[in-house]
Amino acid sequence: MARDKKIIIGNWKMNLGVHEASLFVHKLEKKVKAHRSVEIVLAPTTLALQTLSLQVNYRQFKLAAQNFYWRDHGAFTGEVSATQLRGVVQYGLVGHSERRHVFHETDKDTRAKVQAAIRNHIRPVLCVGETASERAIGETNDIIHDQLIGGLANITSEELPEIVIAYEPVWAIGTGKNASAADVKQAVKAIRTQLKHLYGAKAAQEVQVLYGGSVTNDSAADYLALDDVDGLLVGGASLDAEAFAGIVEKAFISSKESK
Ligand code: PGA
Repeated sequence: MARDKKIIIGNWKMNLGVHEASLFVHKLEKKVKAHRSVEIVLAPTTLALQTLSLQVNYRQFKLAAQNFYWRDHGAFTGEVSATQLRGVVQYGLVGHSERRHVFHETDKDTRAKVQAAIRNHIRPVLCVGETASERAIGETNDIIHDQLIGGLANITSEELPEIVIAYEPVWAIGTGKNASAADVKQAVKAIRTQLKHLYGAKAAQEVQVLYGGSVTNDSAADYLALDDVDGLLVGGASLDAEAFAGIVEKAFISSKESK
């Protein structure tokens, strides 16, 4: 997807059951305006994906899996594979800090999931970002470097534009302490520089890079104004229809379509 399109992803995490999710989508359908230049992606509980896939108008909303297992099928009790999600979702989150820190997923898991998503025609959203203590000792760029290398190994430059990268500093997620636009600018620059080393300038410039971490309707425009930022991964504020609709409008305003 060309970089003139902004992506706004609402990650509902472990909130809203199937019925509630469906009602919430009805609300969003009325409040959130569809724009050609904004890809709006909803990531509900896995349980609601099937229902919502029948409910949503794909011209307005796309769907994302919050998580999936990297094997395609087999004896993996309790898991859902990218193969099973194929055709139901268009995106899949990979390496979210809650997966890395609460469920101890490693770069090796992340890499396998990125590949599973690509194999199943699902766009992986690879999340990378440092913790507060890593930031305090100046390791932000090293962490980004390691997580990109770890997550993207075996991905070719032809596959790279299918992948979305989200810079999600762990200390900013769900804390209300959002990163400053200057911090995001610096980190996204580090991401693109790293991608350039790995894949060359052209591929690095084609990748869509998002910011996530305590984004609100008030702070969204500051990030979207950054040339190198192509959208937002929104947690808490995506559960507020008014705020989410506001964030989508800011993405539209920042897009070329509105100019
Ligand atoms: P938050 O979550 O917006 O609630 O900080 C962001 C995320 O988890 O991606």
